[in-house]
Amino acid sequence: MKLLVTGGAGYIGSVVSHLLLDAGHEVVVLDDLRTGHADAVPAGARLAQVPLAEVASVLTPDAGFDGVLHLAGLIAAGESMVRPELYWDANVVGSLALLDAVRAARTPRLVFSSTAAVYGNPSELPLTEAAITAPTNTYGATKLAIDHAITSEVAAYGLAAVSLRYFNVVGALRRPDGTFVGERHDPETHLIPIALQVAAGERETLDIFGDDYPTTDGTCVRDYIHVEDLARAHLLALAAATPKEHRVYNLGNGNGFSNLEVVAAVRQVTGRPVPVRMAPRREGDPAELVASSARARQELGWAQAKPTITEMIDDAWAFLQR
Ligand code: UFG
Repeated sequence: MKLLVTGGAGYIGSVVSHLLLDAGHEVVVLDDLRTGHADAVPAGARLAQVPLAEVASVLTPDAGFDGVLHLAGLIAAGESMVRPELYWDANVVGSLALLDAVRAARTPRLVFSSTAAVYGNPSELPLTEAAITAPTNTYGATKLAIDHAITSEVAAYGLAAVSLRYFNVVGALRRPDGTFVGERHDPETHLIPIALQVAAGERETLDIFGDDYPTTDGTCVRDYIHVEDLARAHLLALAAATPKEHRVYNLGNGNGFSNLEVVAAVRQVTGRPVPVRMAPRREGDPAELVASSARARQELGWAQAKPTITEMIDDAWAFLQR
């Protein structure tokens, strides 16, 4: 298939692009490089350095795309509470432009990067796709708005669409030539890469945002998934996409780790000290997010190759050290 990957110069988008090329697809990456890196785009893909708002200049009716994997977007839940307007613009306005282009070009398939953040504080764990969606942060609200827009698009125009609700993504793709494709956010805001930077001596301490949550040790609980396992789900979703259906799949491990348990795992994998300091809560953080991915397993045949948090941290650590 000829596929457009928006955000293909980012962390998850570049890993997805690698796997699509490995599977024999033709890949065009659309990325404005605001947060992505040109050198993360695999050699076999073409990079169109174009903002999402102008996607119609690439996704034209004549270009013959068979599908779009839409990963472009702003992703930091904490930042979305401080600069919400950036998130409504990049995520919602940008995605509406994409849907316009998809419709005009009659592109048959769409796979969208949604998020566990759409659920907010769940009333029941693990979270199934039927759980109530009540996001506690602007990031989750913008992703939920796009999910709703896709549902409407599917109903009105017969698009085949799949939303993948990612839980917390970590790790790096190991290539056969010994190189890695991994996470390079600037500034980094995510727990595991920051903990690894502390382990590497690049930062002095890790601030833990809140220890008074209603969890076992008071720190937030998240469900971690290896980026390669997550990326593989995109290929399965693409194959399963069915006209007039908007399918939704949660992608996580089914195991929750508290922030302090994550730090303990980082210490174990790296063999290095990771000094932590308790800090106030970060606005918008739900206390606990743990996935049920039973639907993805049953309907997509998805299975994890690297389900343990130590394997995930090990790959992220190997990437950081290179
Ligand atoms: N945290 C700290 N200190 C830090 C960074 C994070 O204590 O320096 C805490 C956060 O407060 C939170 C947990 O670590 O309790 C995880 O935070 P991250 O920023 O690593 O990840 P989030 O859970 O906020 O969000 C991530 C992605 C989203 C995705 C979501 C799905 O950024 O894009 O996971 O669960 F939607």
